[in-house]
Amino acid sequence: MHAATQGLTATDRAFAVAIVSETLRWMVDLDALIDGATAQILPDDVKSRAVLRIALAQLLVLKSPGHAVVSTALPLVDGGPRRLVHAILSRAQQEEWQLPDRATLPLPTAERWAEQWGLPMVEAAEAAWSAPPPIDLSFAAEPGTEEWPDAVSLAPRHRRLPRGQAVETMPGYREGGWWVQDLAASLPARLLGAGEGRTVLDLCAAPGGKTMQLAAAGWNVVAVDSSAKRLERLRANMERTGLSADIVQGDIRSWAPEDQADAVLLDAPCSATGIFRRHPDVLHRIEPRQIAEMAELQTELLSRAARWVKPGGTLIYATCSLEQAEGEDQVSTFLDRHAGWSIDPARADELPEAVVADDKGLIRTLPAMLADAGGLDGFFVARLRAPSG
Ligand SMILES: C[S@@+](CC[C@H](N)C(=O)[O-])C[C@H]1O[C@@H](n2cnc3c(N)ncnc32)[C@H](O)[C@@H]1O
Repeated sequence: MHAATQGLTATDRAFAVAIVSETLRWMVDLDALIDGATAQILPDDVKSRAVLRIALAQLLVLKSPGHAVVSTALPLVDGGPRRLVHAILSRAQQEEWQLPDRATLPLPTAERWAEQWGLPMVEAAEAAWSAPPPIDLSFAAEPGTEEWPDAVSLAPRHRRLPRGQAVETMPGYREGGWWVQDLAASLPARLLGAGEGRTVLDLCAAPGGKTMQLAAAGWNVVAVDSSAKRLERLRANMERTGLSADIVQGDIRSWAPEDQADAVLLDAPCSATGIFRRHPDVLHRIEPRQIAEMAELQTELLSRAARWVKPGGTLIYATCSLEQAEGEDQVSTFLDRHAGWSIDPARADELPEAVVADDKGLIRTLPAMLADAGGLDGFFVARLRAPSG
Protein backbone atom coordinates (compact mmCIF):
# COMPACT_ATOMS: atom_id res chain seq x y z
CA MET A 1 0.00 0.00 0.00
CA HIS A 2 1.26 3.46 -0.80
CA ALA A 3 2.06 5.72 2.16
CA ALA A 4 -0.25 8.43 0.78
CA THR A 5 -3.33 6.23 1.19
CA GLN A 6 -2.39 4.72 4.55
CA GLY A 7 -5.14 5.02 7.16
CA LEU A 8 -7.93 5.36 4.58
CA THR A 9 -10.83 2.92 4.45
CA ALA A 10 -10.84 0.52 1.49
CA THR A 11 -13.57 2.58 -0.23
CA ASP A 12 -11.74 5.89 0.27
CA ARG A 13 -8.49 4.33 -0.88
CA ALA A 14 -10.13 3.02 -4.04
CA PHE A 15 -11.59 6.49 -4.69
CA ALA A 16 -8.23 8.20 -4.10
CA VAL A 17 -6.53 5.78 -6.51
CA ALA A 18 -9.29 6.36 -9.10
CA ILE A 19 -8.87 10.15 -8.87
CA VAL A 20 -5.10 9.94 -9.34
CA SER A 21 -5.33 7.39 -12.17
CA GLU A 22 -7.98 9.31 -14.09
CA THR A 23 -6.13 12.60 -13.60
CA LEU A 24 -2.97 11.06 -15.09
CA ARG A 25 -4.87 9.32 -17.90
CA TRP A 26 -6.66 12.52 -19.00
CA MET A 27 -4.02 15.06 -17.98
CA VAL A 28 -3.24 16.40 -21.46
CA ASP A 29 -6.95 17.02 -22.12
CA LEU A 30 -7.62 18.41 -18.63
CA ASP A 31 -4.72 20.84 -19.11
CA ALA A 32 -6.12 21.95 -22.46
CA LEU A 33 -9.43 22.80 -20.77
CA ILE A 34 -7.66 24.62 -17.91
CA ASP A 35 -5.48 26.60 -20.34
CA GLY A 36 -8.52 27.57 -22.39
CA ALA A 37 -10.11 29.13 -19.31
CA THR A 38 -7.25 31.20 -17.82
CA ALA A 39 -6.00 34.54 -19.07
CA GLN A 40 -2.42 33.49 -18.37
CA ILE A 41 -1.16 29.93 -18.66
CA LEU A 42 -0.64 28.55 -15.14
CA PRO A 43 2.82 27.10 -14.57
CA ASP A 44 2.90 23.32 -14.75
CA ASP A 45 3.83 22.83 -11.11
CA VAL A 46 1.59 25.32 -9.26
CA LYS A 47 -0.89 24.00 -6.75
CA SER A 48 -3.88 25.59 -8.49
CA ARG A 49 -3.22 23.55 -11.64
CA ALA A 50 -2.88 20.34 -9.62
CA VAL A 51 -6.13 21.06 -7.75
CA LEU A 52 -7.96 21.91 -10.98
CA ARG A 53 -6.72 18.72 -12.62
CA ILE A 54 -7.99 16.45 -9.84
CA ALA A 55 -11.25 18.37 -9.43
CA LEU A 56 -11.98 18.28 -13.17
CA ALA A 57 -11.10 14.58 -13.32
CA GLN A 58 -13.73 13.99 -10.63
CA LEU A 59 -16.32 16.12 -12.45
CA LEU A 60 -15.71 15.01 -16.02
CA VAL A 61 -14.44 11.43 -15.71
CA LEU A 62 -15.70 10.06 -12.41
CA LYS A 63 -18.92 12.13 -12.62
CA SER A 64 -18.79 13.09 -8.93
CA PRO A 65 -21.45 15.62 -7.82
CA GLY A 66 -20.32 19.21 -8.48
CA HIS A 67 -20.93 20.52 -4.96
CA ALA A 68 -18.84 17.70 -3.46
CA VAL A 69 -15.98 18.36 -5.89
CA VAL A 70 -15.97 22.12 -5.25
CA SER A 71 -16.20 21.78 -1.49
CA THR A 72 -13.24 19.37 -1.35
CA ALA A 73 -11.15 21.31 -3.91
CA LEU A 74 -11.38 24.82 -2.45
CA PRO A 75 -9.80 24.06 0.96
CA LEU A 76 -6.78 22.74 -0.96
CA VAL A 77 -6.08 26.27 -2.27
CA ASP A 78 -6.76 28.12 0.98
CA GLY A 79 -4.57 31.21 1.08
CA GLY A 80 -4.05 30.86 -2.67
CA PRO A 81 -6.01 31.43 -5.88
CA ARG A 82 -9.33 30.24 -4.43
CA ARG A 83 -11.36 32.54 -6.64
CA LEU A 84 -9.67 31.41 -9.81
CA VAL A 85 -10.23 27.73 -8.97
CA HIS A 86 -13.83 28.38 -7.95
CA ALA A 87 -14.52 30.35 -11.14
CA ILE A 88 -13.10 27.63 -13.40
CA LEU A 89 -14.98 24.83 -11.65
CA SER A 90 -18.23 26.82 -11.88
CA ARG A 91 -17.65 27.45 -15.58
CA ALA A 92 -16.93 23.78 -16.17
CA GLN A 93 -20.34 22.92 -14.72
CA GLN A 94 -22.33 25.76 -16.31
CA GLU A 95 -20.83 25.21 -19.75
CA GLU A 96 -20.98 21.42 -19.34
CA TRP A 97 -17.36 20.86 -20.34
CA GLN A 98 -16.65 17.54 -22.00
CA LEU A 99 -13.52 15.53 -22.57
CA PRO A 100 -12.74 14.12 -26.04
CA ASP A 101 -13.63 10.48 -26.81
CA ARG A 102 -10.01 9.39 -26.50
CA ALA A 103 -7.48 10.51 -23.90
CA THR A 104 -4.59 12.28 -25.68
CA LEU A 105 -1.12 10.79 -25.14
CA PRO A 106 1.64 13.08 -23.82
CA LEU A 107 3.30 14.58 -26.91
CA PRO A 108 6.80 13.05 -26.47
CA THR A 109 5.24 9.56 -26.18
CA ALA A 110 2.96 10.13 -29.18
CA GLU A 111 5.91 11.31 -31.27
CA ARG A 112 8.16 8.45 -30.16
CA TRP A 113 5.50 5.80 -30.84
CA ALA A 114 4.45 7.35 -34.17
CA GLU A 115 8.06 7.16 -35.30
CA GLN A 116 8.41 3.51 -34.24
CA TRP A 117 4.98 2.10 -35.06
CA GLY A 118 3.08 4.66 -37.20
CA LEU A 119 0.11 6.93 -36.44
CA PRO A 120 -2.58 4.19 -36.32
CA MET A 121 -0.74 2.67 -33.33
CA VAL A 122 -0.86 6.03 -31.52
CA GLU A 123 -4.62 6.25 -32.16
CA ALA A 124 -5.10 2.67 -30.91
CA ALA A 125 -3.01 3.46 -27.82
CA GLU A 126 -5.17 6.52 -27.07
CA ALA A 127 -8.31 4.42 -27.37
CA ALA A 128 -6.73 1.72 -25.19
CA TRP A 129 -5.76 3.98 -22.31
CA SER A 130 -9.02 5.96 -22.25
CA ALA A 131 -10.50 3.50 -19.75
CA PRO A 132 -8.97 1.15 -17.19
CA PRO A 133 -8.50 -2.36 -18.63
CA PRO A 134 -10.48 -5.50 -17.74
CA ILE A 135 -9.15 -8.01 -15.20
CA ASP A 136 -7.33 -11.05 -16.57
CA LEU A 137 -6.90 -14.14 -14.44
CA SER A 138 -4.43 -16.97 -14.97
CA PHE A 139 -5.37 -20.37 -13.55
CA ALA A 140 -3.08 -23.12 -12.29
CA ALA A 141 -5.45 -25.63 -13.95
CA GLU A 142 -8.23 -25.13 -16.52
CA PRO A 143 -11.40 -24.14 -14.61
CA GLY A 144 -14.68 -25.97 -15.30
CA THR A 145 -17.03 -24.44 -17.91
CA GLU A 146 -19.72 -23.79 -15.29
CA GLU A 147 -17.33 -21.72 -13.16
CA TRP A 148 -16.87 -18.04 -14.03
CA PRO A 149 -20.00 -17.83 -16.27
CA ASP A 150 -19.48 -14.09 -16.94
CA ALA A 151 -15.86 -14.47 -17.96
CA VAL A 152 -14.38 -14.75 -21.46
CA SER A 153 -11.55 -17.18 -22.16
CA LEU A 154 -8.97 -15.98 -24.68
CA ALA A 155 -6.40 -18.72 -24.06
CA PRO A 156 -6.05 -21.93 -22.07
CA ARG A 157 -6.19 -21.33 -18.29
CA HIS A 158 -7.25 -17.71 -18.89
CA ARG A 159 -10.45 -15.83 -17.98
CA ARG A 160 -11.22 -12.15 -18.59
CA LEU A 161 -13.63 -10.30 -16.30
CA PRO A 162 -15.08 -6.80 -16.48
CA ARG A 163 -13.10 -4.28 -14.42
CA GLY A 164 -14.35 -2.86 -11.16
CA GLN A 165 -14.33 -5.93 -8.93
CA ALA A 166 -12.21 -6.17 -5.81
CA VAL A 167 -9.89 -9.10 -6.48
CA GLU A 168 -9.82 -10.31 -2.85
CA THR A 169 -13.60 -10.75 -2.90
CA MET A 170 -13.73 -12.83 -6.07
CA PRO A 171 -14.59 -16.55 -5.79
CA GLY A 172 -11.69 -18.81 -4.95
CA TYR A 173 -9.24 -16.06 -3.97
CA ARG A 174 -8.35 -17.78 -0.70
CA GLU A 175 -8.15 -21.20 -2.31
CA GLY A 176 -5.55 -19.74 -4.66
CA GLY A 177 -6.40 -21.50 -7.92
CA TRP A 178 -5.83 -18.27 -9.90
CA TRP A 179 -3.93 -15.00 -9.88
CA VAL A 180 -4.32 -11.67 -11.67
CA GLN A 181 -2.10 -11.46 -14.75
CA ASP A 182 -2.61 -9.57 -18.00
CA LEU A 183 -2.99 -11.93 -20.95
CA ALA A 184 0.12 -10.43 -22.59
CA ALA A 185 2.16 -10.99 -19.42
CA SER A 186 1.22 -14.68 -19.54
CA LEU A 187 2.75 -15.20 -23.00
CA PRO A 188 6.46 -15.58 -22.04
CA ALA A 189 5.81 -18.59 -19.76
CA ARG A 190 3.34 -20.09 -22.25
CA LEU A 191 6.22 -20.34 -24.75
CA LEU A 192 8.00 -22.77 -22.41
CA GLY A 193 5.12 -25.28 -22.41
CA ALA A 194 5.01 -28.14 -19.90
CA GLY A 195 8.04 -28.47 -17.63
CA GLU A 196 7.87 -32.22 -16.93
CA GLY A 197 10.23 -31.77 -14.01
CA ARG A 198 12.87 -29.87 -15.96
CA THR A 199 14.54 -26.84 -14.39
CA VAL A 200 13.91 -23.22 -15.33
CA LEU A 201 15.67 -20.14 -14.00
CA ASP A 202 13.04 -17.44 -13.62
CA LEU A 203 15.14 -14.27 -13.60
CA CYS A 204 13.70 -10.97 -12.34
CA ALA A 205 10.86 -13.05 -10.98
CA ALA A 206 9.04 -10.89 -8.42
CA PRO A 207 6.15 -10.55 -7.71
CA GLY A 208 5.89 -13.96 -9.34
CA GLY A 209 3.18 -14.01 -12.03
CA LYS A 210 5.43 -16.06 -14.30
CA THR A 211 6.86 -18.09 -11.41
CA MET A 212 3.34 -19.31 -10.59
CA GLN A 213 2.64 -20.17 -14.24
CA LEU A 214 5.89 -22.11 -14.57
CA ALA A 215 5.42 -24.00 -11.29
CA ALA A 216 1.83 -24.83 -12.28
CA ALA A 217 3.10 -26.09 -15.66
CA GLY A 218 5.35 -28.62 -13.94
CA TRP A 219 8.67 -26.78 -14.05
CA ASN A 220 11.16 -27.00 -11.24
CA VAL A 221 11.55 -23.23 -10.76
CA VAL A 222 14.44 -21.23 -9.35
CA ALA A 223 13.06 -17.71 -8.94
CA VAL A 224 15.65 -14.93 -8.66
CA ASP A 225 15.10 -11.24 -7.95
CA SER A 226 17.21 -8.49 -6.40
CA SER A 227 14.40 -6.87 -4.42
CA ALA A 228 13.73 -8.30 -0.94
CA LYS A 229 10.46 -6.42 -0.74
CA ARG A 230 9.17 -7.71 -4.06
CA LEU A 231 10.31 -11.23 -3.14
CA GLU A 232 8.07 -11.03 -0.09
CA ARG A 233 5.13 -10.53 -2.45
CA LEU A 234 6.36 -13.47 -4.54
CA ARG A 235 6.52 -15.64 -1.42
CA ALA A 236 2.99 -14.59 -0.40
CA ASN A 237 1.73 -15.37 -3.92
CA MET A 238 3.32 -18.84 -3.86
CA GLU A 239 1.85 -19.49 -0.45
CA ARG A 240 -1.67 -18.44 -1.47
CA THR A 241 -1.58 -20.56 -4.61
CA GLY A 242 0.13 -23.53 -2.93
CA LEU A 243 2.80 -23.57 -5.64
CA SER A 244 6.51 -23.92 -4.96
CA ALA A 245 9.79 -22.56 -6.21
CA ASP A 246 13.33 -22.11 -4.90
CA ILE A 247 13.46 -18.43 -4.10
CA VAL A 248 16.78 -16.61 -4.31
CA GLN A 249 17.56 -12.97 -3.61
CA GLY A 250 20.31 -11.92 -5.97
CA ASP A 251 21.39 -9.25 -8.42
CA ILE A 252 21.88 -11.17 -11.64
CA ARG A 253 24.66 -8.79 -12.69
CA SER A 254 26.79 -10.52 -10.03
CA TRP A 255 24.79 -13.62 -8.95
CA ALA A 256 25.24 -16.80 -10.97
CA PRO A 257 23.68 -20.27 -10.66
CA GLU A 258 25.81 -23.32 -9.89
CA ASP A 259 24.49 -25.25 -12.88
CA GLN A 260 23.07 -24.45 -16.28
CA ALA A 261 19.29 -24.89 -16.65
CA ASP A 262 17.08 -26.45 -19.33
CA ALA A 263 15.41 -23.07 -19.75
CA VAL A 264 15.86 -19.49 -18.61
CA LEU A 265 13.14 -16.83 -18.58
CA LEU A 266 14.39 -13.26 -18.31
CA ASP A 267 11.56 -10.81 -17.64
CA ALA A 268 13.89 -7.86 -17.72
CA PRO A 269 13.42 -4.57 -15.88
CA CYS A 270 12.24 -2.01 -18.44
CA SER A 271 10.56 1.35 -19.00
CA ALA A 272 7.17 -0.37 -18.46
CA THR A 273 5.58 1.79 -21.16
CA GLY A 274 3.55 -1.27 -22.22
CA ILE A 275 1.48 -1.22 -19.03
CA PHE A 276 0.34 2.37 -19.53
CA ARG A 277 -3.37 1.47 -19.33
CA ARG A 278 -2.97 0.29 -15.74
CA HIS A 279 -0.21 2.73 -14.76
CA PRO A 280 -0.88 5.98 -16.65
CA ASP A 281 1.88 7.74 -14.67
CA VAL A 282 4.49 5.87 -16.74
CA LEU A 283 3.96 7.89 -19.89
CA HIS A 284 4.34 11.20 -18.04
CA ARG A 285 7.67 10.31 -16.49
CA ILE A 286 9.61 8.05 -18.85
CA GLU A 287 12.17 9.93 -20.94
CA PRO A 288 14.38 8.76 -23.80
CA ARG A 289 17.40 8.77 -21.51
CA GLN A 290 15.78 6.24 -19.17
CA ILE A 291 14.80 4.02 -22.09
CA ALA A 292 18.41 4.08 -23.29
CA GLU A 293 19.69 3.22 -19.78
CA MET A 294 17.22 0.35 -19.46
CA ALA A 295 18.20 -0.94 -22.90
CA GLU A 296 21.86 -0.97 -21.88
CA LEU A 297 21.03 -2.95 -18.73
CA GLN A 298 18.86 -5.39 -20.72
CA THR A 299 21.76 -6.09 -23.11
CA GLU A 300 23.95 -6.94 -20.13
CA LEU A 301 21.33 -9.11 -18.41
CA LEU A 302 20.41 -10.98 -21.59
CA SER A 303 24.01 -11.80 -22.27
CA ARG A 304 24.52 -13.12 -18.71
CA ALA A 305 21.28 -15.11 -18.81
CA ALA A 306 22.43 -16.82 -22.04
CA ARG A 307 25.44 -18.38 -20.26
CA TRP A 308 23.10 -20.22 -17.91
CA VAL A 309 21.17 -22.10 -20.60
CA LYS A 310 22.18 -25.74 -21.31
CA PRO A 311 23.29 -26.52 -24.87
CA GLY A 312 20.18 -26.71 -27.05
CA GLY A 313 18.07 -25.17 -24.26
CA THR A 314 15.63 -22.26 -24.40
CA LEU A 315 15.98 -18.64 -23.37
CA ILE A 316 12.87 -16.47 -23.18
CA TYR A 317 13.44 -12.72 -23.20
CA ALA A 318 10.48 -10.48 -22.30
CA THR A 319 9.76 -6.83 -21.47
CA CYS A 320 6.51 -4.97 -20.80
CA SER A 321 7.67 -2.13 -23.02
CA LEU A 322 6.42 -0.59 -26.27
CA GLU A 323 9.92 0.59 -27.19
CA GLN A 324 11.82 -1.27 -29.91
CA ALA A 325 15.09 -0.50 -28.09
CA GLU A 326 13.89 -2.80 -25.30
CA GLY A 327 12.55 -5.52 -27.60
CA GLU A 328 13.37 -6.11 -31.26
CA ASP A 329 16.70 -4.24 -31.06
CA GLN A 330 17.82 -6.34 -28.07
CA VAL A 331 17.31 -9.54 -30.04
CA SER A 332 19.23 -8.26 -33.08
CA THR A 333 22.15 -7.15 -30.89
CA PHE A 334 22.08 -10.46 -29.01
CA LEU A 335 22.13 -12.56 -32.20
CA ASP A 336 24.97 -10.44 -33.65
CA ARG A 337 27.08 -11.06 -30.55
CA HIS A 338 26.20 -14.69 -29.72
CA ALA A 339 27.22 -17.13 -32.43
CA GLY A 340 25.08 -20.25 -32.84
CA TRP A 341 21.98 -18.82 -31.12
CA SER A 342 18.76 -18.58 -33.13
CA ILE A 343 15.15 -17.47 -32.81
CA ASP A 344 12.78 -20.34 -32.09
CA PRO A 345 9.65 -18.85 -33.68
CA ALA A 346 6.44 -18.67 -31.63
CA ARG A 347 3.75 -20.85 -33.25
CA ALA A 348 0.12 -19.85 -33.75
CA ASP A 349 -1.07 -22.76 -31.58
CA GLU A 350 0.88 -21.32 -28.63
CA LEU A 351 -0.76 -17.90 -28.84
CA PRO A 352 -4.22 -16.37 -28.37
CA GLU A 353 -5.97 -15.99 -31.74
CA ALA A 354 -5.50 -12.22 -32.03
CA VAL A 355 -1.78 -12.34 -31.27
CA VAL A 356 0.29 -13.07 -34.34
CA ALA A 357 4.06 -13.44 -34.22
CA ASP A 358 6.05 -11.25 -36.64
CA ASP A 359 7.82 -12.67 -39.68
CA LYS A 360 10.82 -13.65 -37.52
CA GLY A 361 8.63 -15.45 -35.00
CA LEU A 362 8.92 -12.74 -32.32
CA ILE A 363 5.88 -11.63 -30.34
CA ARG A 364 5.02 -7.97 -30.16
CA THR A 365 1.66 -7.11 -28.63
CA LEU A 366 0.34 -3.71 -29.71
CA PRO A 367 -2.67 -1.68 -28.50
CA ALA A 368 -4.87 -2.51 -31.52
CA MET A 369 -4.75 -6.25 -30.77
CA LEU A 370 -7.96 -7.60 -29.20
CA ALA A 371 -9.13 -3.97 -28.97
CA ASP A 372 -12.81 -4.95 -29.15
CA ALA A 373 -12.38 -7.55 -26.42
CA GLY A 374 -10.59 -5.30 -23.90
CA GLY A 375 -7.10 -5.18 -25.41
CA LEU A 376 -3.89 -6.31 -23.76
CA ASP A 377 -0.68 -4.83 -22.40
CA GLY A 378 2.21 -3.95 -24.70
CA PHE A 379 4.79 -6.75 -24.44
CA PHE A 380 7.75 -8.06 -26.35
CA VAL A 381 8.62 -11.76 -26.15
CA ALA A 382 11.39 -13.70 -27.91
CA ARG A 383 12.15 -17.40 -27.67
CA LEU A 384 15.82 -18.04 -28.36
CA ARG A 385 17.51 -21.41 -28.84
CA ALA A 386 21.04 -22.07 -27.53
CA PRO A 387 23.54 -23.77 -29.84
CA SER A 388 23.48 -27.52 -29.23
CA GLY A 389 27.10 -27.58 -28.13
C1 LIG B 1 9.19 -6.77 -14.87
S1 LIG B 1 9.50 -7.03 -13.19
C2 LIG B 1 9.28 -8.77 -13.06
C3 LIG B 1 7.87 -9.27 -13.06
C4 LIG B 1 7.77 -10.76 -12.77
N1 LIG B 1 8.59 -11.55 -13.68
C5 LIG B 1 6.35 -11.31 -12.80
O1 LIG B 1 5.98 -11.97 -13.78
O2 LIG B 1 5.63 -11.09 -11.83
C6 LIG B 1 11.23 -6.86 -13.12
C7 LIG B 1 11.91 -7.34 -11.84
O3 LIG B 1 13.32 -7.27 -12.04
C8 LIG B 1 13.94 -7.10 -10.79
N2 LIG B 1 15.32 -6.69 -11.06
C9 LIG B 1 15.74 -5.50 -11.57
N3 LIG B 1 17.08 -5.51 -11.73
C10 LIG B 1 17.51 -6.73 -11.30
C11 LIG B 1 18.80 -7.33 -11.23
N4 LIG B 1 19.90 -6.69 -11.60
N5 LIG B 1 18.89 -8.61 -10.72
C12 LIG B 1 17.78 -9.26 -10.33
N6 LIG B 1 16.53 -8.72 -10.39
C13 LIG B 1 16.40 -7.48 -10.88
C14 LIG B 1 13.04 -6.09 -10.11
O4 LIG B 1 13.19 -6.16 -8.70
C15 LIG B 1 11.65 -6.52 -10.58
O5 LIG B 1 11.03 -7.34 -9.63
